[in-house]
Amino acid sequence: MKTACEMSCTLLSIVLLLSCISLSNAGITSRYMRRLAASTDIPEDSPYFKVPEGFNAPQQVHITQGDYEGNAVIVSWVTTEEPGDSKVYYGKEPGSNYTDYVVGTAGTYSFYNYTSGFIHHSTISGLEFNTKYYYTLGAGQSPREFWFVTPPESELDTPYTFGVIGDLGQTFDSLSTLQHYMNSSGQSLLYVGDLSYADNYPFDNNVRWDTWGRFVEPSTAYQPWIWTAGNHELDYIPEVGETEPFKPFTHRYLTPYKATNSTSQLWYSIKRGPATIIVLSSYSAYGKYTPQYKWFLNALAAVDRSVTPWLIVLVHSPWYNSNTYHYMEGETMRVIFEPFIVQYKVDIVFAGHVHAYERTYPVSNVKYDIVNALCTPEKNETAPVYVVIGDGGNIEGLAGVYTQPQPAYSAFREASFGHGLFEIYNHTHAYFTWHRNQDGEKVAADSAIILNKYWYSATSA
Ligand SMILES: *[C@@H]1O[C@H](CO)[C@@H](O)[C@H](O)[C@H]1NC(C)=O
Ligand SMILES: *[C@@H]1O[C@H](CO)[C@@H](O)[C@H](O)[C@H]1NC(C)=O
Ligand SMILES: *[C@@H]1O[C@H](CO)[C@@H](O)[C@H](O)[C@H]1NC(C)=O
Ligand SMILES: *[C@@H]1O[C@H](CO)[C@@H](O)[C@H](O)[C@H]1NC(C)=O
Ligand SMILES: *[C@@H]1O[C@H](CO)[C@@H](O)[C@H](O)[C@H]1NC(C)=O
Ligand SMILES: *[C@@H]1O[C@H](CO)[C@@H](O)[C@H](O)[C@H]1NC(C)=O
Repeated sequence: MKTACEMSCTLLSIVLLLSCISLSNAGITSRYMRRLAASTDIPEDSPYFKVPEGFNAPQQVHITQGDYEGNAVIVSWVTTEEPGDSKVYYGKEPGSNYTDYVVGTAGTYSFYNYTSGFIHHSTISGLEFNTKYYYTLGAGQSPREFWFVTPPESELDTPYTFGVIGDLGQTFDSLSTLQHYMNSSGQSLLYVGDLSYADNYPFDNNVRWDTWGRFVEPSTAYQPWIWTAGNHELDYIPEVGETEPFKPFTHRYLTPYKATNSTSQLWYSIKRGPATIIVLSSYSAYGKYTPQYKWFLNALAAVDRSVTPWLIVLVHSPWYNSNTYHYMEGETMRVIFEPFIVQYKVDIVFAGHVHAYERTYPVSNVKYDIVNALCTPEKNETAPVYVVIGDGGNIEGLAGVYTQPQPAYSAFREASFGHGLFEIYNHTHAYFTWHRNQDGEKVAADSAIILNKYWYSATSA
């Protein structure tokens, strides 16, 4: 027979347990407080921006996927003294014993009173899956050798880890994010927009596009970064005659857009290992009947989830964001695209723009129309998870002011610089972790198992 005390203690622990459960469902606004002041850009003459030695040495080397399937790589770099050639020698063995080469193109662009170096783009095709290749640029002048590993062939249960970074810039905080990421297990990077922040300088001083290219080269020369355009890529200054939006970005950062019948470098789709990644442009027309809208519906319909079980969308301006910074800027695009995202069971949407981190529960707000007033996002296991990860560490600083109370859809939010990892285990389970720069790379400040929306709900129904 229990005493009264024992019974009330048991009751108390049940009450405590219940309150714990409801708390863990309510979402977390991290108490982690930090300096919100903007940090400064790394000086132009810093070793992190060092120009490689040698006459006409290739610099700002970066690679991205070059086709839809994952058998091609676009190699891009800049030479400054003279064009040189646009040859990439490559093979499975290092040390200049190459079996093949490709020849690409070189060109320059000007922006106000700036003229770029010779920007080279060469596409290597017909690569084998899951293979390490070495490549050399600048052969015959100042050769530099790099390497990359091609993705595994797309199959149902192919493990693969993507890194996720947004809004990086080129400050000492950016450096910390980059160094943390380079210590991670990320095999390629999903970049959600806002690269160099050159537009913080008078006339968008494009020298800061060059320093950024050298800054990220230790990662971008060795693994593909999958590019999304953000507002800091617009470089639009009509006062000085610069009226072509995205001019520096599109000259420097090619994407394999033609492989998915896109008509713009700014929206495209790739298969990589177990995932299809669809990249959207927040700053291009997306309303009904526009090229991006029509393309997006075709791109979603083209996905075969028995080949690429995971479906990831990248966009710069977030659709779910409870930070006061850039609040509701992504709303018009959400209203237009969310019904398709839910219908096609997209697993996760990564966005940048807001300089903080936030993860939602699986959530849907597609019931709303202009008369029914059903405007509250609903938790729904078959709907996507949304992650805001614009916390790469740029010159504008952190966005520390959140709306209160935390909305029910928001699972975790914190204003700290960092990066994410999306680790796909198999066709039903993936693990997302967020790593703040104050911690060692192995520490996850937030983490969540992400259940595949297509397969998990199909098998558990
Ligand atoms: C170059 O590669 C070929 C073919 O893979 C190999 O037979 C040869 O030994 C290599 N030579 C050197 C110097 O590594
Ligand atoms: C471009 O113009 C700005 C402002 O007049 C000046 O500070 C800068 O030195 C110029 N740059 C070049 C490359 O001429
Ligand atoms: C990266 O790893 C190296 C070697 O383990 C370590 O010295 C360095 O501190 C790490 N950097 C970061 C930013 O975690
Ligand atoms: C692109 O268009 C071609 C020709 O119409 C078609 O065969 C292919 O499936 C399309 N690809 C995608 C990814 O939509
Ligand atoms: C969850 O979303 C699916 C797909 O839109 C819908 O069929 C289902 O009714 C939703 N479930 C709830 C509980 O709202
Ligand atoms: C997928 O991975 C998860 C986590 O490791 C595991 O629990 C699950 O059984 C795996 N599913 C399949 C189909 O292999």
